Amino acid sequence: MDIDKSMYNNNIQQSSKYYIETYGCQMNVYDSELVAGLLEKCGYRETTKINNADAVFLNTCAIRKKAEDAVHNKLNSLQYLKKKKPGMILGVLGCMAQNLKNELLASKPFIDVILGPDSYRHIPDIINQRKINSEHWVDTHLSKFEVYDDLFPSRHDGVNAWISISRGCDKFCSFCIVPFTRGRERSRSMKSIYSEVENVVSKGYVEVTLLGQNVNSYRTKEGTFSNLLESICNISGLKRIRFSSPHPQNMDEKLIEVISNNNNICNHIHLPLQAGSDRILQRMNRTYNQKEYLDLVDRIRQILPGCSISTDIIVGFPGETEFDFEETIHVMKEVGFSNAFMFKYSSRPGTKASQYSDQIDESIKRMRLEKIIALQKILTLIENKKFIGEVIKVLVEKESKKSSNQWAGRSDGNTWVIFDKTNENIKDIVDVIIEEARGVSLLGKRKLEKELAYEVN
Ligand code: SAH
Ligand code: SF4
Ligand code: F3S
Repeated sequence: MDIDKSMYNNNIQQSSKYYIETYGCQMNVYDSELVAGLLEKCGYRETTKINNADAVFLNTCAIRKKAEDAVHNKLNSLQYLKKKKPGMILGVLGCMAQNLKNELLASKPFIDVILGPDSYRHIPDIINQRKINSEHWVDTHLSKFEVYDDLFPSRHDGVNAWISISRGCDKFCSFCIVPFTRGRERSRSMKSIYSEVENVVSKGYVEVTLLGQNVNSYRTKEGTFSNLLESICNISGLKRIRFSSPHPQNMDEKLIEVISNNNNICNHIHLPLQAGSDRILQRMNRTYNQKEYLDLVDRIRQILPGCSISTDIIVGFPGETEFDFEETIHVMKEVGFSNAFMFKYSSRPGTKASQYSDQIDESIKRMRLEKIIALQKILTLIENKKFIGEVIKVLVEKESKKSSNQWAGRSDGNTWVIFDKTNENIKDIVDVIIEEARGVSLLGKRKLEKELAYEVN
């Protein structure tokens, strides 16, 4: 046992347990693992039963009103647990803590701890302070430097490990709260990312997903995002590398070539579009127009034939006319996205777009959202049907939900593939011949090595 741990263990009851619930994006998933690592250093163990926990943390999201409502509801219900167990620490972490600290303190005084995304290093101090008094602990200072380089996230066993490579965002899209909740963009050193990837591979993970709000604007004095990819893709045992999300503005040719030249970097790019109309893109401050986006997609497909491209889309941004909305539909059809996360615009107080006077009616937003969801369903099916009869590489990730005789794994292009079990194991990459496209998934049959060898002969 390391010295640190035993020191803390003497001070803390052995049985102390923590429970963390994570809302929002994968960056938050990673941050929850960082917080779990800190709590475990303090002698806490994880519990999946909230009622058994001595410390409950909600790691929150502020991206849309709905995300905030979910946390408010959860906190309201936790009020009763806190009454029953006054000694339990109740903490709110993450983007909503950063954004709504005053409102939370005023409306929910039973919250003990409020920490913004750059304040997690206080956790050991908070645990110690609670032994002396039960004063509120609030810290939402945003740092220009904090990248948690030296902390070790506590992960559950699995196939994929999330690795945060940068924090914050400087793009200030006019609809988005992230630059306010996460602060200025900063990149973590290549050396520390490399050693974290080596570490997770040595622990048995075979895939990593590199995370950043603008993963491809990563830059340190050691190099760019392309250089980082080139360096980690040589780590032996690392079968797949994914990343999320790149910004169209920072998508250079070099990056596309690095993906093309390295087999273990997945043939999938999540390229948030947001809107198809030039006027709306400009009001969103997205820094590209429709033609530039479509040209970029062309270049990607020239260098990376068959690359799947997925996206994020917002409908009902202030001032979006029927014509503007049709432009989004036009781009969706032109590109043929393999998948899309689609949202109704949600006004975020404090952002530029929230001040626009031409907000769109909720019922129009709803209709537009339904329309693009229906369209995307068709586009996904068209894209998936292209794989029928093809043999594709699938990383076996888990048992299929529908049958214990089947595996579920993802293709290089990030599509779920279901097939009957034969002799393979979780974490193997196997050849699967695709027989059917159903919903968002592909169904297939394992192509065994014997059959492949036979074909070659
Ligand atoms: N950094 C990423 C996006 C992170 S937020 C990028 O630039 O693409 C994830 C997605 O949430 C965004 O791509 C956007 O589609 C959506 N989103 C952000 N703010 C929103 C808002 N105010 N209303 C609705 N959707 C929003
Ligand atoms: Fe938000 Fe835009 Fe930054 Fe993405 S790039 S996090 S949408 S401000
Ligand atoms: Fe939400 Fe913050 Fe992520 S607002 S989407 S948790 S960066």
